[in-house]
Amino acid sequence: MTIRNLHSKARAGEKLVMVTCYDYATALLLDGAGADMLLVGDSLANTMLGYDTTVPVTLDEMIHHASAVRRGAPGTFTVVDLPFMSYQVSPEDALRSAARVMKETRCEAVKLEGGEWVAPTVKRLVQAGVPVMGHIGLTPQSVHVFGGFRTQGRDEETGRRLRSDADALADAGAFAIVLELVAPELAGEITSSVEVPTIGIGSGAACSGQVQVLHDLLGLFPDRTYRHAKRYAEIGVAIREAVRAYAREVREGAFP
Ligand code: KIV
Repeated sequence: MTIRNLHSKARAGEKLVMVTCYDYATALLLDGAGADMLLVGDSLANTMLGYDTTVPVTLDEMIHHASAVRRGAPGTFTVVDLPFMSYQVSPEDALRSAARVMKETRCEAVKLEGGEWVAPTVKRLVQAGVPVMGHIGLTPQSVHVFGGFRTQGRDEETGRRLRSDADALADAGAFAIVLELVAPELAGEITSSVEVPTIGIGSGAACSGQVQVLHDLLGLFPDRTYRHAKRYAEIGVAIREAVRAYAREVREGAFP
């Protein structure tokens, strides 16, 4: 998979599929499992490290996880999130962070959050040879500014802002844009007007593709449910049952 292939797929009307991945064992399973792209999302702060927001995760932690994913899925186009404050301070900071990600993980692209204000940084990264995926709508690194996780773009002003954010990112050279919790009608309008594919999460079916957090797809947190996620398996329950069965058999002398 290359950016050129992704663009031709999207132009041909084929939906793009992206899923998060954070470790070697899972990457082995996902390599060749049908996703066009893996995302080493900073959601690993929540899913792998147990934080309640993505704010605390560091660049070193992102690189640690992304390198493991690359070792497990050398054949899958992999995007790595630049974490909070590794690109916001200046384009130079962003270049240094992205350089570390590209050199130390050997993944193909970075993703960063923000619209028009971050477009000059996107442009600098692309000029320097770093493929960039944008991310607008509900941007979790700014959760404390948003004051919660709510659908974005329901009113006219936010709608206008999100449209110009998407255009600014595409003009700056972003190869695709994640639309997170964007009102579905607006996500459809952005998808038809912007030059690059959109990847939706909680933003309706009109996006050029979809991204989901793997833990939500697999039911790894049996007690957490989200409106925007669909569970395709109950792996959390299966893991708990397997370990209970093992413990029982050891205690009963049935294993080994
Ligand atoms: O970190 C992440 O998993 C993401 C997706 C939800 C788009 O950014």
